[in-house]
Amino acid sequence: MVALNILTLLALPATLASASPVIRPATSLLVRDPTSYNASLPNVTIFATGGTIAGSASSKDQTTGYQAGALGVQVLIDAVPEILNVSNVKGVQIANVDSGNITPAILLNLTHQIQEELASPYCQGVVVTHGTDTLEESAFFLDLTTRSEKPVVVVGAMRPATAISADGPINLLEAVTLAASPGARGRGTMVVLNDRIASAYFTTKTNANSLDTFKAYEQGFLGFFINIEPIFYSTPSTPLGKPYFDVANTTVLPQVDVLYGYQGLNPALATAAVASGAKGLVLAGMGAGGWTDPGRDVIQQLVEQNETAVVFSRRTMDGYVEPNDSVGYGGGFLSPQKARITLQLSLNAGYGPAQIKTVFESSSK
Ligand SMILES: *[C@@H]1O[C@H](CO)[C@@H](O)[C@H](O)[C@H]1NC(C)=O
Ligand SMILES: *[C@@H]1O[C@H](CO)[C@@H](O)[C@H](O)[C@H]1NC(C)=O
Ligand SMILES: *[C@@H]1O[C@H](CO)[C@@H](O)[C@H](O)[C@H]1NC(C)=O
Ligand SMILES: *[C@@H]1O[C@H](CO)[C@@H](O)[C@H](O)[C@H]1NC(C)=O
Ligand SMILES: *[C@@H]1O[C@H](CO)[C@@H](O)[C@H](O)[C@H]1NC(C)=O
Ligand SMILES: *[C@@H]1O[C@H](CO)[C@@H](O)[C@H](O)[C@H]1NC(C)=O
Ligand SMILES: *[C@@H]1O[C@H](CO)[C@@H](O)[C@H](O)[C@H]1NC(C)=O
Repeated sequence: MVALNILTLLALPATLASASPVIRPATSLLVRDPTSYNASLPNVTIFATGGTIAGSASSKDQTTGYQAGALGVQVLIDAVPEILNVSNVKGVQIANVDSGNITPAILLNLTHQIQEELASPYCQGVVVTHGTDTLEESAFFLDLTTRSEKPVVVVGAMRPATAISADGPINLLEAVTLAASPGARGRGTMVVLNDRIASAYFTTKTNANSLDTFKAYEQGFLGFFINIEPIFYSTPSTPLGKPYFDVANTTVLPQVDVLYGYQGLNPALATAAVASGAKGLVLAGMGAGGWTDPGRDVIQQLVEQNETAVVFSRRTMDGYVEPNDSVGYGGGFLSPQKARITLQLSLNAGYGPAQIKTVFESSSK
């Protein structure tokens, strides 16, 4: 593995970009020789999955349309030598894809390996590098499927490594610093971008282009960084009713599809989703979970005749969707994409209607 510093990284030709979004075998590479571990520093494991933070463009002013997931974890780490001053890091390449191509298989592999690391007394924290488009989904999934006091920090970048003022290097340094920080324990999975620390449970990508894109408008941030040091607003806490799912033996997740609500929506899409294998549906409804009358009739049929699990969520950025006792479940505070993951994990756990109802109702009360 060629060691690259930040200058050679900036000068990397686009031809280095590897094309196919494939799951690569997990290669565990020690970035630092174990015999040279600094005993007074914590150990952090970085799991790399691709994304813009590992992206390469053909020019320094290109910030869209570049090859995401072109650079390997060693290159990312070598580009920020400062991280070796805050921790002993180990890098594991899980995949190298843009985040839209993260699959349930990659997610399960990721959470299995993270759980193993967290269980080791020699690991103090974990960082995941990830594309930002679906970062909130993977972070939420990890929040619900890992169990440890140790920090899990998911980090991405909005500008590729080759851009002027790339945000990846500082984001990665802050993420590793956070993962190595005792003050970060007991706060669940966190997301770091743009000097902010967000709860994976609540945060969402709010802008397709800007650097300050990850927000939870209602719940706010957990903290921020000053001089690369994390500062928290409060003592560690857990979102009310946050469920935990053991996926240690899970290899596939049930199909759950999201349907979008709009005037004159096509009710047949719900039937088509179920016919193509969906065990559950999440409805990004109008307002607080509203659906059209003809659409609702079809949903009711699918619930009653086909045992389809249906969660009513909302297409608005924020809001609370109450349960409706006659059909489906209320998604509470969860966005459609997060309600989908919760429903997948509930169905995977073999939960029946009463247990699923409890998961959704307690995730907001
Ligand atoms: C993850 O996937 C890799 C490559 O397929 C495999 O070698 C490894 O055992 C998997 N690890 C876990 C914990 O699932
Ligand atoms: C190990 O880390 C400590 C704390 O950051 C630092 O003071 C010391 O110089 C480091 N030792 C070596 C050999 O790098
Ligand atoms: C690491 O810390 C040492 C001692 O404080 C300092 O001399 C060195 O410049 C630091 N390295 C980086 C890459 O920040
Ligand atoms: C860091 O990892 C090394 C190598 O496995 C180990 O010797 C050391 O005890 C670990 N440090 C901590 C603080 O766990
Ligand atoms: C996973 O499998 C192991 C070994 O068969 C078993 O001990 C454990 O209880 C299983 N865990 C779950 C959540 O099913
Ligand atoms: C739903 O169940 C009904 C009654 O068993 C069946 O006729 C229909 O084909 C099913 N619909 C789908 C989409 O599977
Ligand atoms: C609950 O569902 C029933 C049956 O689909 C519907 O008639 C009713 O309007 C819904 N109530 C609310 C509050 O959404």
